[in-house]
Amino acid sequence: MIYPIVKFGNPVLEKPAEKVTVFDKELEKLIEDMFESMYEAHGVGLAAPQIGIGRRIAVIDVTFKEDPDAKLVLINPEIIHTEGKHTQSEGCLSIPDFRENVTRPNKVTVRAQDVHGKVYEKTGEELLARAFLHETDHLNGKLYISHISALKRDLMKRKIRKLQKAGEW
Ligand code: NI
Repeated sequence: MIYPIVKFGNPVLEKPAEKVTVFDKELEKLIEDMFESMYEAHGVGLAAPQIGIGRRIAVIDVTFKEDPDAKLVLINPEIIHTEGKHTQSEGCLSIPDFRENVTRPNKVTVRAQDVHGKVYEKTGEELLARAFLHETDHLNGKLYISHISALKRDLMKRKIRKLQKAGEW
């Protein structure tokens, strides 16, 4: 099932998501649907709040279907180590058609649970590091625009408000 992506302005995006405690078939199906919804939206990462579900689940595939081993499921993720700095243009499926440069750590280790509840750790660099941080932020009710200057953020919000008024958001 493909879920529509929730856009900036919906409060679910700015609320910390709830910890997952039950690892069952229903969760497996939801994760499958999240991958499908992410690919449909041409994204490389998707957090459950972005489909209106306030649970600590995110999916990532920075290769966008190229490498099946790159499909990652992050349940209850925590960032346990960061290193370095890297600036790159960043966007979000919930803030379509906007991008801004964001400086984030370049090397990141995440600890998370997989679909069966098994705890694992994974280290990523550059785009994967960025995805770990961006998706974990989502689960904490935080969007990438919290990492840009207040001036740029206000400008973006003003543009979004205009689009909302015009019914184009
Ligand atoms: Ni996002």
